[in-house]
Amino acid sequence: FVPSSDAWSGFLVEAQKIFPTSTARLALLALVNIPVIAIVLNVLRQLILPRDRSLPPEVFHWIPFFGSAASYGNDPINFLTSCQKKYGDVFTFILLGRKMTVALGSKGNNFILGGKLANLSAEDAYTHLTTPVFGKDVAYDCPNEKLMEQKKFIKVGLSADNFRTYVGMVEDEVLDFMNRDPSFRTYQMNDINEWGQFDALTVLAEMTILTAARTLQGKEVRSSMDKTYAALFSDLDGGFTPLNFMFPNLPLESYRKRDRAQKKLSDFYVGIINARREGRSNNDETDIIAALMTQTYRNGNALPDHEIAHIMIALLMAGQHTSSTTGAWTLLHLAANPDVAESLYQEQVTRFSNPDGSLRSPTYDELRTLPVLDAVIRETLRLHSPIHSIMRKVRADLVVPPTLAAPSKDGQYIIPEGYFVLASPTVSQVDPKIWYNATQWDPSRWNDIDGEAAKAFKQYTDENGEKVDYGFGAVSKGTESPYQPFGAGRHRCVGEQFAYLQLGTLITTVVRQIELRIDAVPAPNFHTMITMPKQPRMINYRRRKFA
Ligand code: HEM
Repeated sequence: FVPSSDAWSGFLVEAQKIFPTSTARLALLALVNIPVIAIVLNVLRQLILPRDRSLPPEVFHWIPFFGSAASYGNDPINFLTSCQKKYGDVFTFILLGRKMTVALGSKGNNFILGGKLANLSAEDAYTHLTTPVFGKDVAYDCPNEKLMEQKKFIKVGLSADNFRTYVGMVEDEVLDFMNRDPSFRTYQMNDINEWGQFDALTVLAEMTILTAARTLQGKEVRSSMDKTYAALFSDLDGGFTPLNFMFPNLPLESYRKRDRAQKKLSDFYVGIINARREGRSNNDETDIIAALMTQTYRNGNALPDHEIAHIMIALLMAGQHTSSTTGAWTLLHLAANPDVAESLYQEQVTRFSNPDGSLRSPTYDELRTLPVLDAVIRETLRLHSPIHSIMRKVRADLVVPPTLAAPSKDGQYIIPEGYFVLASPTVSQVDPKIWYNATQWDPSRWNDIDGEAAKAFKQYTDENGEKVDYGFGAVSKGTESPYQPFGAGRHRCVGEQFAYLQLGTLITTVVRQIELRIDAVPAPNFHTMITMPKQPRMINYRRRKFA
């Protein structure tokens, strides 16, 4: 705060009237200058005071408490990679009073995502954001062991048998949407020469929630989609923002709407469960509610209704923006690369043509054997992982292995209890030391069986490699792979297979119907929890000849 000299003398004249004595004036002067003094002291502390050599280097910042919030918030990937160049793979930055220690690269991913439960806690890092949205007693509002059991229950619903029934449902929903939504008016006109336009993210958000409702959430949710449910989801979603992450309780209307929506949605799901249990509605379904209603904890207790309800809300929030934004980025890149879109289309033609030239639906098992589709989704997730920062809170002092970073040959860094740690697989996914043409969207890299992509993918998913069971079934360890769009370790995503199914079916269904074009792929917007494409993101489309 450095006022101009005119403003300053005017201010002093006024101040003299209000504060006539010199002591009072001195006090006022000190008060006005507190921010300046704080900045100066903060800078001197960083430049002059000797640093504790056991702490990782601290990113230079001017304003205490605020720290690097602006640089990190505006473009986290650029911020993290430029800090990496200056400070190495391990460093600490200040984010609105929180001390965030970052560990980058494959070793950094492994250090944080493969860390011990005694040292690192996801619930301490996330609960203030997630519990008001998901509800009590699930996810990060319960001990980690309980979350692991809940993930096991969810996996029962996410079975291959259920998935086999989902492909047709997703396809139906996408086609139905294209046949009725105003974004596809030109498509509906049946004229193959007319070009129309749709907003990539808006359309993908609609398609994602409709297809998730039809498959995972169940028929009662799907039939409420056009009514109250969509409005409640929107209010709940308004409480799942970076503002909520930084400030859990502000007296704002969006926070009150979030709380009202959480209660109503929770009651809505409990109503579904009761109706099914009392036989007023069929529970012979392939959705997750049906699976959760049959599960019991290790102590013999069945899941209480409110926990089933809150798990369903958690799944809705975990899957909606991650999948919809990935779908939007995929269609944007396909529109910018018509040659890739054409190979994707030709893959469909080759594999699924009927004798009359029409295309039949793929089965779930066939969907998993399409190399172009796989490469397109993997490449999109490499460049646009929806979650750029994965955080944990340090529960007990944590030693950084010297192979990752160290202050000297014989020294080691210690991250103190109370700090946060941050992993960003997105940074290793675009590391030019690992990836050829790292920032280019190039699905063909996944076809090179000896290339860096295949190696990273094998490390991530290796069926024959090291497996760990954290309590929700054995998963590939994968914590040291530079490619981890679904996270790794005990908090690894359980929705990965469903996301591939949903995205794969959705993208191929769209590409079978229309050709896509765009001049340039938009830049990412980092101001939302999930990295989304900035506006404008209108894709031009034209109906295919045989659609
Ligand atoms: C966890 C990404 C879709 C449910 C995660 C994590 C990531 C992730 C990075 C780890 C978070 C952490 O370690 O803090 C994605 C991406 C998706 C996707 C990129 C789509 C493209 C889904 C879907 C569902 C889902 C569709 C539900 C059906 C979950 C759950 C967790 C999780 C339950 C576990 C959280 C934990 O253990 O702490 N996801 N996800 N995700 N995801 Fe996903």
